[in-house]
Amino acid sequence: MSETLTLPKTADRFALYSSLYPQMKQLLEDERDPIAAMANMGAAIKEAFGWHWVGFYRVMGAELVLGPFQGPVACMRIGHGKGVCGTAWAEERTLIVPDVDKFPGHIACSALSKSEIVVPLRGRDNRVHAVLDIDSSQLDDFTEVDAQALARLLGLLEPLFD
Ligand code: SME
Repeated sequence: MSETLTLPKTADRFALYSSLYPQMKQLLEDERDPIAAMANMGAAIKEAFGWHWVGFYRVMGAELVLGPFQGPVACMRIGHGKGVCGTAWAEERTLIVPDVDKFPGHIACSALSKSEIVVPLRGRDNRVHAVLDIDSSQLDDFTEVDAQALARLLGLLEPLFD
């Protein structure tokens, strides 16, 4: 893949993920730096789907710290078990939040965010090293299709973390 994505002209999310995966695989093939890889992964997801905010929080000691992202400025540190991101990290599982206003403890970085998905990023040691956080301006915008496809994309970053 060059610096441009080739994406099908469709709103079909499954088709977009199917097109994105091989391109990301090729793009990241020779990259060894996790920040560079996370930056382009986030940019590609934002370009493909146009969500309000797409980014990573990295596990740094007892906190998540803001990593590469696309979108408006966001909170920089999130405690273990706090908000959607800190909960996904603590529980080591993907969280889909159809309505952020109904998630107790949700950390509101932007009033435009209505629904959210957070997917843990595991390294070769099987530990969670970061989370991918995506915010949508639409309510109930994420399904199991996103959870599965995003986890598969994050699998491409696994060799960069140990
Ligand atoms: N809403 C997140 C905080 C991060 S921002 O959405 C970018 C949470 O509750 O953890």
